[in-house]
Amino acid sequence: MLKPGLLRFLAGLFFSLVIGWYVFPYALYEKFEQPIQFSHKVHTGETGGLSCTDCHEIKSDGRFSGIPALEKCASCHSSAIGTSSQEKILVDEYVSKNREIPWLIYAKQPQNVYFSHASHVKLAALECTECHGSHGSSDSLRPFQRNRISGYSRDIWGSTMSRINRASWDGAKMDDCENCHDRRHVANTCLKCHK
Ligand code: HEC
Ligand code: HEC
Ligand code: HEC
Ligand code: HEC
Ligand code: HEC
Repeated sequence: MLKPGLLRFLAGLFFSLVIGWYVFPYALYEKFEQPIQFSHKVHTGETGGLSCTDCHEIKSDGRFSGIPALEKCASCHSSAIGTSSQEKILVDEYVSKNREIPWLIYAKQPQNVYFSHASHVKLAALECTECHGSHGSSDSLRPFQRNRISGYSRDIWGSTMSRINRASWDGAKMDDCENCHDRRHVANTCLKCHK
């Protein structure tokens, strides 16, 4: 038989876990929908036939183009190709008004962090999936979640509160960067990542 004291302790523990694991993250993160439901699958699959570098290129001076500007989309979507409601938003609200699309960047690091795609993709020969998972073949966009206290994207901490058993792309805190650098014998001096 369990003693009443132990029972109360277990009940308390159970409720704190529920609050810590489900209620706290729910309250901590604010959700925002992306401006358009962009489908990587349509563009990189059979229909679009594009490769990642057609839109996300590392320029000859080493700079990463990031998310392509509207100009890129307009080269194919100056008027509607299909009948999708999302494409209609693209054409009516952005292309014809010449307004850039305000994408929310899931992987966005704080201002004080320096990160270069050229070093990681070219020199270290890492795949995009190592840090971004299956985003490049996704069909729809999940809401962007912003931490109400720090203002950072939830993707920095990662999807699980406990941070146990995560995939390589689930979370990009300082420790996560440093752990890979340690494994690959890259020195972790502060001023490498903080300029
Ligand atoms: C037609 C242009 C286009 C192509 C081709 C394309 N992307 Fe994208 N990519 C975008 C746009 C637009 C966004 C912003 C919307 C979003 O988050 O999906 C984006 C966002 C991303 C992001 C999210 C960055 C962040 O943290 O918010 C990743 C990762 C990404 N693309 C990877 C890939 C990979 C890998 C491929 C190749 C398999 C690829 N993309 C091909 C246009 C493209
Ligand atoms: C090389 C040409 C090309 C480029 C560049 C391109 N698209 Fe597309 N896009 C297509 C094609 C082809 C389709 C499929 C049309 C259909 O059958 O509905 C499509 C479909 C779409 C759709 C509707 C289908 C869906 O499920 O999402 C949206 C929204 C869209 N594109 C957004 C964008 C945005 C935003 C960009 C710029 C980052 C972009 N496209 C760049 C060719 C292109
Ligand atoms: C070593 C991890 C890593 C790898 C590998 C990687 N990325 Fe990223 N990516 C990041 C980080 C970290 C950021 C956020 C950078 C920042 O905020 O300064 C980011 C940001 C992005 C963005 C948004 C950039 C912007 O500001 O517009 C896109 C798009 C993207 N990555 C696509 C890719 C693609 C495509 C590949 C493969 C060619 C790739 N990434 C490989 C870690 C990585
Ligand atoms: C999966 C492994 C991996 C992850 C994750 C990773 N890196 Fe790296 N990083 C490398 C490797 C390997 C190099 C060495 C590349 C070379 O010079 O050959 C490197 C080099 C660097 C450099 C020095 C090169 C330069 O551009 O000046 C910086 C800065 C850096 N990483 C920042 C970061 C930050 C910030 C993060 C986390 C957001 C991160 N890295 C995550 C593997 C990784
Ligand atoms: C491999 C890259 C890397 C190295 C090396 C590194 N940092 Fe960081 N640091 C980051 C990243 C990425 C973040 C933001 C994500 C986070 O909060 O964990 C960060 C966040 C921080 C923060 C918190 C700032 C905030 O806004 O939350 C401090 C303080 C900090 N770093 C100090 C240091 C010091 C001191 C060193 C040297 C002993 C160092 N860092 C070395 C990548 C690095």
